[in-house]
Amino acid sequence: MLQNKNIVLGVTGGIAAYKACDLVSRLKKLGANVNVVMTRAATEFVTPLTFQTLSQNPVAVEMFQQPGSWEIEHIALAKKADLLVVAPATADMIGKIAGGIADDLLSTTIMATGAPVLLAPAMNTHMYQNPIVQENISRLKSFNYRLIAPETGRLACGDVGEGKMASPETLLAAIVKLLIRQPDLAGKRILITAGPTREAIDPVRFISNHSSGKMGYALARAAAERDAVVTLISGPVGLPRPNNVDLLIPVESAAEMYRQVMAHYQDQDIVIMAAAVADYRPKAVSPEKIKKTNNGLTLELEKNTDILLELGQNKGNHILVGFAAETQNLLEYSREKLVHKNLDLIVANDLTEEGAGFGGDTNIIRIIHRSGQVDSLPKLTKTELGHIILDKVRSLLEPAAAL
Ligand code: PMT
Repeated sequence: MLQNKNIVLGVTGGIAAYKACDLVSRLKKLGANVNVVMTRAATEFVTPLTFQTLSQNPVAVEMFQQPGSWEIEHIALAKKADLLVVAPATADMIGKIAGGIADDLLSTTIMATGAPVLLAPAMNTHMYQNPIVQENISRLKSFNYRLIAPETGRLACGDVGEGKMASPETLLAAIVKLLIRQPDLAGKRILITAGPTREAIDPVRFISNHSSGKMGYALARAAAERDAVVTLISGPVGLPRPNNVDLLIPVESAAEMYRQVMAHYQDQDIVIMAAAVADYRPKAVSPEKIKKTNNGLTLELEKNTDILLELGQNKGNHILVGFAAETQNLLEYSREKLVHKNLDLIVANDLTEEGAGFGGDTNIIRIIHRSGQVDSLPKLTKTELGHIILDKVRSLLEPAAAL
């Protein structure tokens, strides 16, 4: 996803420097080339060797160190960068940039670059709220520096308030957005389903599953960021409405999801079924709460319509993407679903793998293509994977777009 992207990461002297290590490792996983520049103060918190090992590149600290080549270091890095990120960005560094001061390798590199600069402030709450710091931040914004607001929480100094550096996940999402979020799905209509369905037994009980909706919502956010026209049909989840989604249709049961998907299908270019749709529902729904007896309770279940199967039977020009959640024979069962449901792609997740499947913020997926190609991805956040899945969808659209 970030292959051929050069990211210069500036690390300044704050305790949040340790989070920058995680950020480097995530950037590397996505294929970026990362060059770390540290201030002298930053080396008091994390050693250059840590960043060198994680980035697999030499770490630059000194302005006047013996050059490895005849390139002038700050100019070379400034020119090479597709994006310059400063994480953590201390009040001192923010002040320096805002004041036009370039007195060390990092501040000179920032001054010399034509690449976008993204700053992740991290400091004590009172420092962050200091009007001078706030004025510097406003000044930087007016010069088109991007800032990721710090989070509120317990700070290393013991204070509670604003000032915690944004999480590596948030930073990564912003970096990916800056580097590759082209509006490459502009004008495309995409329908995404998310979450579980609930199949009523009586007015108080239902059959459902563990889907949280996070995967589907991540896809919806990603599609909206790429300017698609997004319809999200969601089973019951506890997630906020994703930004910029055009239409959010809440549903409860598989039958309702079926009706809503069918009502919107013809208008769509792309459908991604990330929802965990119940395969069965109780044959009869009791109008009253079923009273407990001394005996067991037998429920007769009947099959729900397979929504995706029906979409595949009426595929037309739609791009259809399914998910497969399996506990065994992942590739074999997923491939069978891809063929049986006439899909373009199927995203297979193995529910037995740690960090994959239901509930968490991460997933481990294999994307299986009609051609048989399998893209195996490492454990990544659902946000990152949402974009990777859309990259694959985009590559399916391209041949048609080229005609
Ligand atoms: O929501 P999260 O907590 O983030 O978890 C994500 C997830 C694990 C739910 C998601 O990544 C996932 O795998 N969703 C599909 C789960 C599932 O129902 O798989 P399946 O193998 O039973 O179904 C295969 C495909 O057919 C799915 O795209 C499903 O949406 C679709 N289907 C299934 C049954 C049905 N009656 N109609 C359908 O359209």
